[in-house]
Amino acid sequence: MIIQDARELLTLAGKKGPRCYEEMNELAIIEKGSVVVKNGRIVAVGTKESIAAEYNANRIIDARGKVVMPGFVDPHTHPVFFGTREKEFEMRILGKSYVEISQEGGGIRSSIAGVRQTSEEELYQLSLNRIRRIISCGTTTLEAKSGYGLSTASELKMLRVINRIKQELPIDIIPTFLGAHEFPAEYKDNRQEYIRILKEEMIPAVAKEGLAEYCDIFTEKHVFSVAESRDILKTARDYGFKIRMHADEIEPIGGASLAAEMKAVSADHLGSASSRSIISMKKAGVIPILLPATIFSLGLKNYAQAREMIDKGLPVALATDFNPGSCNCDSMQFVITLSCLQMRMTVAEAIVASTINAAWSLQRGKELGSLEPGKKADILVMDMPSYRYLPYHFGSNNVAQVYKEGRLVYENNI
Ligand code: NIG
Ligand code: FE
Repeated sequence: MIIQDARELLTLAGKKGPRCYEEMNELAIIEKGSVVVKNGRIVAVGTKESIAAEYNANRIIDARGKVVMPGFVDPHTHPVFFGTREKEFEMRILGKSYVEISQEGGGIRSSIAGVRQTSEEELYQLSLNRIRRIISCGTTTLEAKSGYGLSTASELKMLRVINRIKQELPIDIIPTFLGAHEFPAEYKDNRQEYIRILKEEMIPAVAKEGLAEYCDIFTEKHVFSVAESRDILKTARDYGFKIRMHADEIEPIGGASLAAEMKAVSADHLGSASSRSIISMKKAGVIPILLPATIFSLGLKNYAQAREMIDKGLPVALATDFNPGSCNCDSMQFVITLSCLQMRMTVAEAIVASTINAAWSLQRGKELGSLEPGKKADILVMDMPSYRYLPYHFGSNNVAQVYKEGRLVYENNI
């Protein structure tokens, strides 16, 4: 197959590693560009003329006037849940904070009963539909966390759902165990016992069934302290999990520094991360994943310091944080708009952060995130005249076609 004659073909060809500093502004654009795809992989990219001279195809996709680019990689989501929490959205508008709502019985805890009471089959169907919609927004790789079961059986159920969807849908899904998302109500006055269960039951059980690649934790003043997080993450590491963290989202309690100490693969949120912790993340090679749609949806102002991070050489990545509470957002396109407006990222930086850097944040940069020969043919044909149009036209879907490993998996027929 050849996708032919794109007005701009964003290859993002470049260094085989996370992109930093000025590399984040390099989209390696080919004008009038074509991509050759075979057996789900990219074979070649080049100008229309050079590709036409060298390759024949039995299928030609005309991308005239459009932008062709890598599929989005969304490296932080919570897509498995039962009920939605739009009431909390309105409570926030009326003046309550996220933490106040959590402490009054809303928040993560209010999603627990639903997941515990719902069958694996029903959770599977609900989550499948959500992820179909996410694919229609151009996401071709997704990290997905458990964390609304908070008991061994329900966490395993959530992870099984995630692993089943991975088999069913045309999207790469990377599962993460997030049993340390909150203390369930029955252990709120006996935190040590829940930590014991996490360390002695849940982590070993998830490892034994091979259901997750990463272990994540919500390190925050009202949830897991730095000392508790260190203790849990060490056990996770001993069981072979790699580490991701929810760090310094609301209060700067030292989550990002712990991520550096634990050599986490990523530290996410970081709205309150200090300059010192940013430097320690850089030294330890921790990738910052910024989630501006969460700040937006919480009605807050503490967007992460993306400029400082980029200027200090951190390979910033972006994600939606799709979840039923703080951020019910499917679309990496909207995240890009917010990143440009609220964090002053250039359009190119935001695109790099949503594709190749996001792929590296999931340790998949060799396979995904750019349109280079040998990589998976995860390709978007975008209904846009130039890449700069992406954040500028917001609130609707700029996607014309989504290809996953060379297969058309979504088409917008407007
Ligand atoms: O990433 N911060 C912790 N977890 C989610 C919120 C989940 C929820 O409120 O249900 C987040 O924002
Ligand atoms: Fe999250």
